[in-house]
Amino acid sequence: MGKYSGKNVVITGGGSGMGLAMAELLVADGARVVITGRSQATLDAARERLGENAVAVRGDVAVLADLDALADRVRGELGSVDALFVNAGIAALTPFGSTTEEAYDELFAVNVKGAYFTVQKLAPLLSAGPGVVLTTSIANVMGVPEASVYAAGKAALRSMARSLSRELLPRGIRVNAVSPGPIGTGVLERAMSAEAAEEFKARQAEGVPMRRFGTVEEVARAAAFLAFDATFTSTPSSALSRLNRTHGSPASACRSTPSASSSGCPAPNTTTNSSSPRWWALEGLRSAPRRR
Ligand SMILES: NC(=O)c1ccc[n+]([C@@H]2O[C@H](COP(=O)([O-])OP(=O)(O)OC[C@H]3O[C@@H](n4cnc5c(N)ncnc54)[C@H](OP(=O)(O)O)[C@@H]3O)[C@@H](O)[C@H]2O)c1
Repeated sequence: MGKYSGKNVVITGGGSGMGLAMAELLVADGARVVITGRSQATLDAARERLGENAVAVRGDVAVLADLDALADRVRGELGSVDALFVNAGIAALTPFGSTTEEAYDELFAVNVKGAYFTVQKLAPLLSAGPGVVLTTSIANVMGVPEASVYAAGKAALRSMARSLSRELLPRGIRVNAVSPGPIGTGVLERAMSAEAAEEFKARQAEGVPMRRFGTVEEVARAAAFLAFDATFTSTPSSALSRLNRTHGSPASACRSTPSASSSGCPAPNTTTNSSSPRWWALEGLRSAPRRR
């Protein structure tokens, strides 16, 4: 019997990066997972890796009809859901003067509207005492040059976690958020040679207090803790995994009450590292949203 045996989990954006790491961690300990994403090839590869306790469902979180279809499929495959990881997201570089309406709309459609309606559509399937974990970003409290739209969307998500945690509490649903710093998700290695990626990461890591990137496994462990182990005393909350910016463990999940320092974590902006050169590149921010 694994720690998560009998647990049913949905992970949006579960075909790659942090979402896939969450799926791997949970499946390895007995959970059944439904992962989602837009790319069938990515989903097929992830499904192959995860094995028979995983179901891949293709869909766009920004399209409400796709979310309805996802809910139907989840009902059929899992029945009820013990944990929901609202992790799908896109990143893009949008210098203020040249940000287009299309880029703005796409970032908010996926990262904000998509997350909101993912929770709304799947909430009826949540079992007793379930956990919802939103993946936001360290950008939610930082001033981020050339990524104001992405950062604003992630701040909206953080705010949403706080409001929903209160609104859904009467149903016994715990809502939290992880706010990762720069995480090695392989995006750099896909964009450049291994040597160039290593050199780039080493340069960027100099601007990070821990002097290294976080790993997808660290985020996955923090998210799993919030989904299953964190108690009701953590609501209303936006539990932050301040990867790479706290003095504690890299995966430390710090509860963010209105005064974050009361939980032993630094206040949200005490270690803000906005002067870190081109830090946005670490999250794979591009000059324009990805198109499918
Ligand atoms: N990497 C970092 O340093 C970092 C730091 C802080 C926060 N984050 C956040 O962490 C989350 C996961 O990102 P990641 O770094 O693991 O990158 P990733 O590997 O690109 O993961 C993002 C996932 O979301 C899916 N996705 C994107 N748009 C979608 C849509 N419209 N509908 C459904 N699925 C969609 C992608 O699949 P498809 O492309 O197949 O749709 C992909 O599986 C994101 O919310 C990101 O903003 C990342």
